[in-house]
Amino acid sequence: MLNEKMEKAFNDQINKEFYSEYLYLAMKSYFVELNLQGFVNWFDVQVQEEHAHAMGMYDYVHERGGKVELLAIDKPEVEGKTPLEVFEQTLKHEQYVTSRINALMDVADEVKDRAALSFLDWYLKEQVEEESNVGGVLASLKLIGDDKKALLMLDKDLATRTFVAPVIG
Ligand code: FEO
Repeated sequence: MLNEKMEKAFNDQINKEFYSEYLYLAMKSYFVELNLQGFVNWFDVQVQEEHAHAMGMYDYVHERGGKVELLAIDKPEVEGKTPLEVFEQTLKHEQYVTSRINALMDVADEVKDRAALSFLDWYLKEQVEEESNVGGVLASLKLIGDDKKALLMLDKDLATRTFVAPVIG
């Protein structure tokens, strides 16, 4: 059985993962408008990953006999005006998500829920990967600067990213 505080923390994080899905959907639209299909694909994979992250916790709360409460999802804002700025926002967002996973683990620690801690370990490792992936694209965009040809080459590269359904927990 899930502790009440733990259950609330999971429900908050489920909401943040769905918000991430929503934010990346909005960013995908930004790249659709620019007709950069590789970036579109990259964000499409990101959208599916965030959905999987949310559903992983959704299933886990049920598995532990808890109650899932779906909260309202905030309107996402794409703040960046260039691909580089959009990726800066993406990295900032992923760093925020990492801080929320850490906070969730702090709650698990506080209520001595070792099962939840072990479950959340997967998310912690995933965040390292997420930040590294985003950081890699961001570094390329910084190198590219205003070189349109190089941007199109990166776009081609991002078109090869595929979604692999994660085995969570
Ligand atoms: Fe679900 Fe991108 O963190």
